[in-house]
Amino acid sequence: MTQETVIEVSETATAQPAPAKDTTPVLSVEHLEKSFGDTMVLKDISFEVRPGEVVSIIGPSGSGKSTLLRCCTLLETFESGALRYDDLVVAENDASGKAHYSGKEMDKQARERFGLVFQNFNLFPHYSVLRNVMEAPVVVQKKDKAETEALARKLLKQMGLEGKEDAYPCELSGGQQQRVAIARALCLQPEILFFDEPTSALDPELTQEVLKVIRALAEEHMTMVIVTHEMAFARDVSDKIIFMDGGVIVEEGTPDEVINHPQHNRTKAFLSRYQSDGATD
Ligand SMILES: Nc1ncnc2c1ncn2[C@@H]1O[C@H](COP(=O)(O)OP(=O)(O)O)[C@@H](O)[C@H]1O
Ligand SMILES: [Mg+2]
Repeated sequence: MTQETVIEVSETATAQPAPAKDTTPVLSVEHLEKSFGDTMVLKDISFEVRPGEVVSIIGPSGSGKSTLLRCCTLLETFESGALRYDDLVVAENDASGKAHYSGKEMDKQARERFGLVFQNFNLFPHYSVLRNVMEAPVVVQKKDKAETEALARKLLKQMGLEGKEDAYPCELSGGQQQRVAIARALCLQPEILFFDEPTSALDPELTQEVLKVIRALAEEHMTMVIVTHEMAFARDVSDKIIFMDGGVIVEEGTPDEVINHPQHNRTKAFLSRYQSDGATD
């Protein structure tokens, strides 16, 4: 079986016009390098995400995908390179080539720009669903409580969770918990949403219900960066796919370029592992 016949790019994947090239990127990463001790785990990483774009990051375990997301969301610092959210410069290299962070005030402003959805939901177990969604906007962002509650209820409805507002996380399935986590991230009204393997803790059926809501967000042109092993999903929703291996971006391009016509042997080898499973949705 040739690579081309493995996964066909659907019509919908190419139906949307590409975002205009002259718009300022929502997120820009330039020459980012990150080490843990003596081990460099991210090497010269550069990419941009433009308004309305969906970028998927694929690659084997240990290739640095989570660390990259953690650097972008200020959960880790990096030693060299630049990170910008639109007009906000979070960090940029100084004259000696070391990343200089702009400081706490800039970090705070940048945190208003993005939302993050983790693999393991990370909901507060002792808070109701509604309170989980409302907590950060009200307590951290000091948003109006009534307005936040109205938004939280609307988002929960959008996530198919109407009637679950007063439930506790332990009373929900994993798929429902992850949809609460997505509502929680959206309630911060971010300009860009990051997902780190949002379905890898879920069984196939629950995976589908979570992928469905992420697909709906993509159709509404929510700007997103999604680390995923769901190849068919990545192919269908993404404007751009980045393949990482060993801490570097090996190749990036449209879903057709990266998934159907990979140029590098490492990409081909990685994707061949998904041939036998087929596209999983
Ligand atoms: N906190 C940490 N301390 C030391 N090494 C780490 C830490 N987090 C990740 N790593 C290492 O960095 C590399 C990239 O890991 P990670 O970003 O989790 O990859 P991925 O998400 O692609 O599986 C791996 O070699 C991992 O062992
Ligand atoms: Mg990871």
